[in-house]
Amino acid sequence: MRVRVLGSAAGGGFPQWNCGCPNCRGVRDRTIEATPRTQESVAVSADGDGWFLLNASPEIRQQIEAFPPLHPRAARDTPIQAVVLTNGDLDHCLGLLSLRESQPIAIYATDSVRRGFTERNVFYRTLERFDGQVTWRRLVPGQPQDLLLATGRPSGLTIEARAVPGKPPIHLEQLEPSGPEDNVALRIREAASGRQLSYASAVGAITGAVRETLEGADCVFLDGTFWSADELIVGGLGDKRAEQMAHVPVGGADGSLAQLAGLAAARKLYIHVNNTNPMLRDDSPQRAEAERAGWRVASDGLELSL
Ligand code: MLT
Ligand code: MN
Ligand code: ZN
Repeated sequence: MRVRVLGSAAGGGFPQWNCGCPNCRGVRDRTIEATPRTQESVAVSADGDGWFLLNASPEIRQQIEAFPPLHPRAARDTPIQAVVLTNGDLDHCLGLLSLRESQPIAIYATDSVRRGFTERNVFYRTLERFDGQVTWRRLVPGQPQDLLLATGRPSGLTIEARAVPGKPPIHLEQLEPSGPEDNVALRIREAASGRQLSYASAVGAITGAVRETLEGADCVFLDGTFWSADELIVGGLGDKRAEQMAHVPVGGADGSLAQLAGLAAARKLYIHVNNTNPMLRDDSPQRAEAERAGWRVASDGLELSL
């Protein structure tokens, strides 16, 4: 299985357009050791030919252009076989509206994520220009299924969604009741080799379901939004704690690093890293702590072969 990190930052990206926090200022001015990052998305492929995107970030066009295997091979064409959505947050879905140039596209999502994106959304009509422009394929938590190529044939990969702690996107709060299908983690398995990728880019707490999803994988991507729960408050950047935003922090006694200390997974990477996270600085003590525990901080363009 081939894996390419298209984008590794949380919503807003790094730097974020309206953010003057020390990280965002430092990366703009090049006064800190850190690399800019676009918003989270990962591409996976069994054969290197047909690719599946995990989430569709607002920077999707730039991410496709930066990775030649995603370029068209004919006058109108895309190697992208489908997009898989893990939740309805705009940093995961906005890119879909950029794929509006009359290309048929398949989207895997839970029923609640599909409804959240399509209902009451006049912009969605741009993906309904002709019959069959979008084919929705339903993710039912706990039910493994083949990841299908655009032709409908099996790709050699299977996918299973797992309900993990999360919440509806901010723009749907108060409109929709929250439920277990709001936010899923993914297990993607290559049938031929048995290799497994676990993908959990938004996780509100480390539950049994989260552990089960990550355990034994050849590669794990986990929510690395915040280092500490009060990061936005301390920085004068917001009034929400990490848990109110359904993100478990990385650091501290209750953080994911400590809670997953014994995790058996060959490769462990943090993704969806918010621009305020000190772990983004290559020379920070927080980065060193994560690396000592066997974790890496994903960066745009990183490629893995499982
Ligand atoms: C999140 O990950 O918490 C959301 O992307 C936040 C947002 O939509 O601004
Ligand atoms: Mn996000
Ligand atoms: Zn910032």
